[in-house]
Formats: sequence, structure tokens, C-alpha cells
Amino acid sequence: KRKVLVLTGGGDCPGLNAVIRGIVKRAKSEKNWEIIGSMEAFNGVLRDPVEIMELNDKVTAGIHVKGGTILKTTNKGNPLEFPVQQKDGSWSTIDRSKELIDRINSLGVDSVISIGGDGSQRISQRLYEQGLNIVGVPKTIDNDLSGTDFTFGFRTAVQIATDSFDKLVSTAESHHRVMIMEVMGRDAGWIALHTAIAGGAEVCLIPEIPYDINKVVERLNQRYDRGKGFAHIVIAEGARPIKGEVTAVESEEVGYEHKRLGGVAYQLSEQLRAAGCEADIRETVLGHTQRGGTPIAFDRILATLFGVKAFELVLEGEFGKMVSFKNNKVTSVSIEEAISKYNYVNKNSFMVRAARSIGISFGD
Ligand code: F6P
Repeated sequence: KRKVLVLTGGGDCPGLNAVIRGIVKRAKSEKNWEIIGSMEAFNGVLRDPVEIMELNDKVTAGIHVKGGTILKTTNKGNPLEFPVQQKDGSWSTIDRSKELIDRINSLGVDSVISIGGDGSQRISQRLYEQGLNIVGVPKTIDNDLSGTDFTFGFRTAVQIATDSFDKLVSTAESHHRVMIMEVMGRDAGWIALHTAIAGGAEVCLIPEIPYDINKVVERLNQRYDRGKGFAHIVIAEGARPIKGEVTAVESEEVGYEHKRLGGVAYQLSEQLRAAGCEADIRETVLGHTQRGGTPIAFDRILATLFGVKAFELVLEGEFGKMVSFKNNKVTSVSIEEAISKYNYVNKNSFMVRAARSIGISFGD
């Protein structure tokens, strides 16, 4: 039998289980394939004894409906920079990639499917260059991976954020308040932009368009002057004012650093007050609720198709490729190309222009 190793890496995302099930089901329609999973990204293979599980019909039955990942996941699973604790308690990293590939070979595995975001795809590319037969499946709620028009999980996150937005409307209206809702997205404004349009926000602040706080106050005042005694702001966790910290987009090489959730919402609240906004302001930080629970139908479907396609790339020996959804087709791109840039909101795009035309201010 030929063996495929599957793993999920980085933050979890609705749809991961649907990909795993898609791979298993597609493999079943071919003779002589066995699918196994490494627990917590590559860590399962690097542990003694190894932590791997057989992925068959029984363990994957019905899992497409569930959030999270049956294989568990971690942000601390980079075999190229594997964290080790020193005797004095400090941490350093070592490169365990060669050992990893040897261990994968000794398990009788001939190919790997790695489901993960940008960080995982970068690891996959390095391992591919070292001779590992690997195929990537893009996942992230942030939708910031290039090489694919959409990642699964993104639309579920937007749905969760929109549902929360809708709930804020009645309470904002009753109290004449300005509601600030902070959404995830890392250094990209996709979740915020989509939610602002779906919910009907007056202001949408995203990392790609640094905001001027006075312009934000102007938009809020306009609304209050028109007799609408409440307003909604959607702010992406990576959003930044023009004056202040350099935006994530401008400093791409710095990459993502973990920021405390809620940071930008509370910061914005203070900035609004300092800029003369007299309205009563409240902040809501959605945090990890955006990644939890069951994937919406679109994401289940996309994830399932990605799983099927990933197995077919293995069958065809198309290694070093990442599954992708482009122009309404499930296809593939080289991982190298996919990681060569990020997918950020283009401030000159139709979507941003349309948002402006329906009264959404980006604070610029
Ligand atoms: O990349 C997905 C994501 O949820 C981002 O939107 C967010 O910035 C980050 O992960 C949160 O990471 P963690 O789960 O490690 O707190």
C-alpha cells in the first residue's frame, strides 16, 4: 500500500476537518492507498513514540460539519526552527528538517499533504526543496494567501462577524452609541471589509488604508447631524492610524507579531474621544469566536473539493504544488508562487470603491 501523511498546521480554521474527510474519501476510490495523520502538525512525527493516527472512514465520518481539526494543530511546529528549552530555561531553535524527512521515510510514507496558512506553506516549500514529496492546501480565515482567490474558513469568519454586527445594531440604536467591533485578519482587512458591507457599517478601518482619526470623527458627526443617533465601526486587528505605528503592509518584512486582541478597538476608542467625539462609545472584540464552530456550507464545499484535489495532485505526482481556487475553478499553483506575496485588500479595487459609494468611510 502507498501511504500519504496528512497534517494541519498553524491556527485552526473552520473547514479543516472537511479537507481531511475529502482526502480520505477520494483515496478510498483508488486501490491500495493508506492515509495517516500526524498529530499537531509535524510534531507527531517528531515525537517518541510518534503520534500518528490512521485516517479512515470510521474516524472521518461526519467530521466535515465540525470546526477545529481532529489532528490538532499548533503554531509551534516548525521543524526548521524547532523550539528547544535550554538548561537555564531559555528557548532556542534547531533545524530538525532532515530528521523529519528521515522519520517520514521510515514510516513508509511516500507523500505528504500539509494543510496550513502562509507559515505552513513556507515550511512545505523548504521541505519540498529538501526532497520531500509534498502538496499544500491553503487555509486561513484571514484570506491573505495569494495564489488562491479564497481560502476556506474565511466566509465562515465573515458570517460569524456579520451575525455579531447585526446583534450590535439594536443595542447601538437604543443607546445612541458608537459601537466599535474588532475583527481578526492579521495584516489583511478582508474580514473587516466584507463584514462592514454585509452589516452596513459607517466606518471600516483596515491595515491597507491607514486612517486619519479626524476623518473618522467627521463621518460619525455627519451621521449624528443627520439625526441618526448611533453608528458602527468595524476595525481590523491590524488597522493603524496614519500618524503612529508603521502599518503592517508597509513593513511586510517584519511579518506578523502576535498583538493582543482588543488592542486596536480600545485604542480607537481613546483616539475618538481625544479627537472630540462626544458620543457614548463601546467596544466589542470578537476574537477566536470567528474561528470556532461549524463551517458554513460554502467553506465545507470548498474544503472538501480542496481535499479531493490535494489527493489527486499526489496521484499525479504534482509535488511542490498548492491547491487553489481561481476564477471559479479548483486548480493548483506552485507553493513557491503562492508564498511569493500576500493577498491584501487593494484600495483601488471595485469592492473598496463600492463600499465608499454606499457611505462607508475608511477614515482616509
Ligand atoms: O491567522 C488566523 C488568526 O486567527 C488571525 O486572524 C489572528 O491574528 C491570529 O490567527 C491569532 O492567533 P492565535 O490563535 O495564536 O491567538
